[in-house]
Amino acid sequence: MSNLLQIEGLETGFETERGLIRAVDGVSFELQKGKTVGVVGESGCGKTVTAMSIVDLLPKPSGKVLGGRISLNGRELTGADQEVMQRVRGNEIGVIFQEPMAALNPVQRIGKQITEALILHKRIGKVAALKEAVKLLESVGIPSPERRVIEYPHQLSGGMRQRVMIAIALCCEPDLLIADEPTTALDVTVQAQILNLISKMQENIGMAVMLITHDLGVIAEQCDEVIVMYAGRIVERAPVLELFSNPLHAYTKGLLASIPRLDSERKTVLPTIPGQVAPIHEFVAGCRFCQRMKRSGKSIQERPDYLEIKPGHFVEQCPECTEEKND
Ligand SMILES: Nc1ncnc2c1ncn2[C@@H]1O[C@H](COP(=O)(O)OP(=O)(O)OP(=O)(O)O)[C@@H](O)[C@H]1O
Ligand SMILES: [Mg+2]
Repeated sequence: MSNLLQIEGLETGFETERGLIRAVDGVSFELQKGKTVGVVGESGCGKTVTAMSIVDLLPKPSGKVLGGRISLNGRELTGADQEVMQRVRGNEIGVIFQEPMAALNPVQRIGKQITEALILHKRIGKVAALKEAVKLLESVGIPSPERRVIEYPHQLSGGMRQRVMIAIALCCEPDLLIADEPTTALDVTVQAQILNLISKMQENIGMAVMLITHDLGVIAEQCDEVIVMYAGRIVERAPVLELFSNPLHAYTKGLLASIPRLDSERKTVLPTIPGQVAPIHEFVAGCRFCQRMKRSGKSIQERPDYLEIKPGHFVEQCPECTEEKND
């Protein structure tokens, strides 16, 4: 099957007062039409920066794609001009940002923000667009949508703003939805409603989803495949069941061990991953999980190979962090 999204060796950096930092350091993956890939990893590991690199929305001028290639539907996005990227965003890629306020225009009514996108991308008239906007707000669980369309973002609660942003991201039926913690600010029933809506759109229009979340329960439920990021790199990637049942990298095992289980004793202390992620400007060239474990020697000097050890199961092959046995 051909890939909808293909990323090869993506490197993204920021110019800071301490010099250039590399927040994403050689990330490669692909995503097929209709599929969902989950991206997990602790705070600061480069999930949002990876997403923002795809849609060319890195903070300017400090953020920059330094290397690698990104293509969508076989078309190269790296180096594409602003006009092309603007058309891609909204039309081919919908984005749900981690910070809803950053994505909404504070001085424009909710309805206008949605209808503008609809008129632009679907080429429909104003009245039809407004009707569609009300329907969309309803589908993301906003009560009294007819009233809400004439309100401004500051009149809505955080959870409602997030839902408006979801409505905008979905309104043009994109080929790819990038959802960065899409349901974090929402209560569980609304969360389930939004996730169902996304799944339904995947069935109906074959939309692919890149889902960034800290919630491994959501990952288990929604995703076909999971990418585990650590310190700017992918340390493991596998089909969802394979990852949960046969994690190979010590970091993945640590993440999975820290989820509460219904069958464990109550009040047991959940294991946490020891140590802390090194400051980004101190990242070693070699295995960064070994750096966290304060190991020395060859493993922190040379970047481990990233290999596909079973169909679809990739892992950073550090001799200290990756189990030898492959089954
Ligand atoms: N504008 C910026 N300038 C400098 N460094 C940045 C900037 N934005 C992000 N970074 C750095 O890039 C790294 C990756 O950040 P990113 O936001 O991608 O993390 P994340 O995995 O999305 O974390 P979270 O789970 O907290 O959202 C972090 O070390 C962060 O400090
Ligand atoms: Mg983030």
